[in-house]
Amino acid sequence: MKLMLWNLCILELFVFWCVFSEKGLLLPASKLPGQKMFREFLLLGMEEKMGQDESYMQMAMELAELGRGWTAPNPVVGAVLVREGRIIGQGYHERCGEAHAERRALADCRNRGESPAGATLYVTLEPCCHHGKTPPCTDAVLEAGISRVVVGAKDINPLVGGKGIAILRARGVKVTEGVLREECEKQNRIFFHYIREHTPYVRMKYAMTLDGKIAAAGGNARWITGEAARTQVHRMRHELSAVMVGAGTVAVDNPKLNCRLPQARNPIRIICDTTLRTPIESYVVQTAKEQRTIFASCTKNKERIAAYESLGCEVVTVSECRGRVCLNELMRELGAREIDSILLEGGGELNWAALRSGIVNEAYIYIAPKLLGGAAAKTPVAGSGMDSPEHGFFLKNRTLAVIGEDICITGEINYKKSEVERDVYGNY
Ligand SMILES: NC(=O)c1ccc[n+]([C@@H]2O[C@H](COP(=O)([O-])OP(=O)(O)OC[C@H]3O[C@@H](n4cnc5c(N)ncnc54)[C@H](OP(=O)(O)O)[C@@H]3O)[C@@H](O)[C@H]2O)c1
Repeated sequence: MKLMLWNLCILELFVFWCVFSEKGLLLPASKLPGQKMFREFLLLGMEEKMGQDESYMQMAMELAELGRGWTAPNPVVGAVLVREGRIIGQGYHERCGEAHAERRALADCRNRGESPAGATLYVTLEPCCHHGKTPPCTDAVLEAGISRVVVGAKDINPLVGGKGIAILRARGVKVTEGVLREECEKQNRIFFHYIREHTPYVRMKYAMTLDGKIAAAGGNARWITGEAARTQVHRMRHELSAVMVGAGTVAVDNPKLNCRLPQARNPIRIICDTTLRTPIESYVVQTAKEQRTIFASCTKNKERIAAYESLGCEVVTVSECRGRVCLNELMRELGAREIDSILLEGGGELNWAALRSGIVNEAYIYIAPKLLGGAAAKTPVAGSGMDSPEHGFFLKNRTLAVIGEDICITGEINYKKSEVERDVYGNY
């Protein structure tokens, strides 16, 4: 028995690797040979440790991850159909505008020659009940004769907001809510933030040395961290809708700000540039027709704006706050353009302004085992700074991981009102 459990553990580790490896995250499940079978086999081991509902929900969550990067501004959602202890269908929301996870699982079930009637549907997010880009999933569930639905998180979208569950119950379907709710909510924290605030979820990321430098004294930042950390950052560029930097970083680095992983998508580029000083010859301007590029500016100089627009850039004009781009107004503008998430890869100036404006939700901080020195070398958060350590921005729910030769610390920014100057930056 012990040997069998040990074998299952090894198998689980292998399958976990298959599902979460760089390739697994970026490839649609259908393109991963044998993945379905492995995931179903994996449950044999999981059920012994978790309750049955939890283990099927865990599997639905893993399926949901396969859609990450492709579904925005929709959530990532996974679904599993089970009858008499057997998985008879599975699916996930693959792309915005395409079928939802529930319909994919039902289609998979029929493709296997199985009938979904009387089955239990596990789904990470409450089924929708409105006509959006696709018809309501509640209709599909009812038509298929599903007898029980197990839901992870409630959908806070006002168009759903518990109505999906209510419709199913009213039609005699047994509904169990809140299985792995916290995990499912965390998985879709970008979606929940976007629905609630109508502004993008912002992840600030930077790489620094052990002595807190993000570039050498002359400005050269290539490369602070090793390859494994840089690959992770490219994955984030695929997973989040947009990447944002300041004009200072473009001036020094002339960056590409694309995603260089196979079968991944490029993020939208956002450059905060108060006066449109970025050279027309820069890489981001010259390639704007291939990769959507937005300049956030305060200039009213029509000729300058036209020069960028003629090369395919979009120019979003916002008010000035302390002489620079008003970040809160910008977030509202970007939210209205359905940009649900941003990877903030700014230098110290933009990072400080973003923190001070209260727009940063979480931080990914990479620390390389190097010392660079140089009093003039840039640091990750600059600006005027806080007047006392007690006023520092504090990270809660922290994690720490070793990524290749580097360390990565993550955490959510725990804002206290005193740290945020939204009134100053024109926000409250
Ligand atoms: N290691 C890393 O993770 C990393 C990441 C990024 C950059 N870097 C390095 O950082 C250095 C550049 O640092 P930086 O601080 O100059 O770059 P930055 O923060 O990307 O850019 C700052 C510029 O952005 C513009 N901006 C527009 N709106 C702003 C606002 N609301 N608040 C602040 N700035 C705003 C300002 O120029 P205007 O006033 O002209 O608009 C400002 O000078 C480079 O050496 C680069 O290599 C390192």
